[in-house]
Amino acid sequence: GRPLVVAIDGPSGSGKSSVSKEVARRLRIAYLDTGAMYRALTWHCVTTGIDLEDAAAVEQASRDLVLEVSTSPNEEYVRVDGVDVTDAIREPAISSAVSAVATTLGARTELIRRQRDLIEKHHRRMVVEGRDITTVVAPGAEVRMLLTASEEARLRRRGLQLGGTQNAEELAAQVTHRDAKDSAVVNFTQAASGVVTLDSSDLDFEQTVDAALVIVTKVL
Ligand code: C5P
Repeated sequence: GRPLVVAIDGPSGSGKSSVSKEVARRLRIAYLDTGAMYRALTWHCVTTGIDLEDAAAVEQASRDLVLEVSTSPNEEYVRVDGVDVTDAIREPAISSAVSAVATTLGARTELIRRQRDLIEKHHRRMVVEGRDITTVVAPGAEVRMLLTASEEARLRRRGLQLGGTQNAEELAAQVTHRDAKDSAVVNFTQAASGVVTLDSSDLDFEQTVDAALVIVTKVL
């Protein structure tokens, strides 16, 4: 088939991953979760005791990383050095450390290179989701969209709410804090020129997928 790169950026809790996966399934093309790559590098650094503030060390680790990520929307796996870290990279300890790795420019350069290689390997037929896909990784993508949702909707989807228990408030603060740190390196809160914004605040999952597919269909 002809190239169909669907670049989807957005903050955490926008429903980006589940929506992107379903869009890939419906289009019958590959799928890449670039956040999982940043998480895998973070897991590796934390596990091997690499100082996340040491940019040179993190950059070197990114080059040496033996990383395998699923490129199918129908199976999820992430392996580092052959070790399955699919669940480990979702742990809170990794979520709170990942921004430090993601702000290391040398490591970004390396992961972006790998992401572009994966897109090429799939003959440019892939849904790619992250924070800088529409702007940096694949600015020439056939479809570029920013999936947003109000802070309230994002917290609600995580089972959290403002004015909830203290624990819920803390979790909510962590999510908001991570987005604030992330926006220091890539601006994913505003759509770049040519990028379509899809606000899912008042849409359920099916409606969001349908709206995304309408955007894709328009360019086909
Ligand atoms: O998407 P997810 O929340 O799993 O991403 C984890 C982290 O990886 C983000 O908080 C961000 O620091 C980083 N990331 C990034 N660029 C991307 C994807 C993720 O900096 N394209």
